[in-house]
Amino acid sequence: METMTQDEMKQQVAEAALAYVKPGTMIGVGTGSTANKFIDALASIKDQLLGTVASSEATAERLRGHGIPVLTLNEALQQVETLSVYIDGADEFDPGKNLTKGGGGALTREKIVAAASDAFVCIVDQSKQVAHLGAFPLPIEVIPMAQSLVEQAARAIGGQPRLREGFTTDNGNIILDVYGLTITEPRQLEDHLNTIPGVVTNGIFSHQGADTVLMATPTGVQTIQ
Ligand code: A5P
Repeated sequence: METMTQDEMKQQVAEAALAYVKPGTMIGVGTGSTANKFIDALASIKDQLLGTVASSEATAERLRGHGIPVLTLNEALQQVETLSVYIDGADEFDPGKNLTKGGGGALTREKIVAAASDAFVCIVDQSKQVAHLGAFPLPIEVIPMAQSLVEQAARAIGGQPRLREGFTTDNGNIILDVYGLTITEPRQLEDHLNTIPGVVTNGIFSHQGADTVLMATPTGVQTIQ
């Protein structure tokens, strides 16, 4: 039997997520290579959508390229109370459906759009499943003048921060990637890091964790509720 490539698994899970898009609703759309495949699949049902809110400039551009309507979050929330669903990938997920996100640097807008949505459906391949978050370096979006202050705070919790060179977020900030953490208490660490002045947000999604994880495997898509 031929094994499925990671790319094929991403395609499969992206298509499975279409089942979570209710006709006539406004949805949030994530960022990354798996989200890109979802956007391409979404084009096939675009006439059923009220609209979309994008979690990055790159996603907005790709949606518009398919002729899918894109609204700002502020515009969308004047029409609807909440987005019906947020669909996005992740860099890691743990058994509690806590996530690490921000490998693509869009973590802040992703967290905002997720918070505005009734449900978060996370689309991943099986390589993203972990017992504890932390093997993937934790991204933190930081206002540039606070870089050294946040680096000190990251070292104080046992991490090794590294500036993501040559990268500026859609919000004009820097990303520090923190290596060497084993995150056993994701909610506490998410809260702690977000109290440091200059931190815009960090890539732990515990408060905005997934409601459903769709995980692609070589034998099919598993639904983790
Ligand atoms: C983007 O900022 C991230 O949060 C992505 O969701 C994450 O990096 C997953 O991307 P892939 O689908 O490309 O693995």
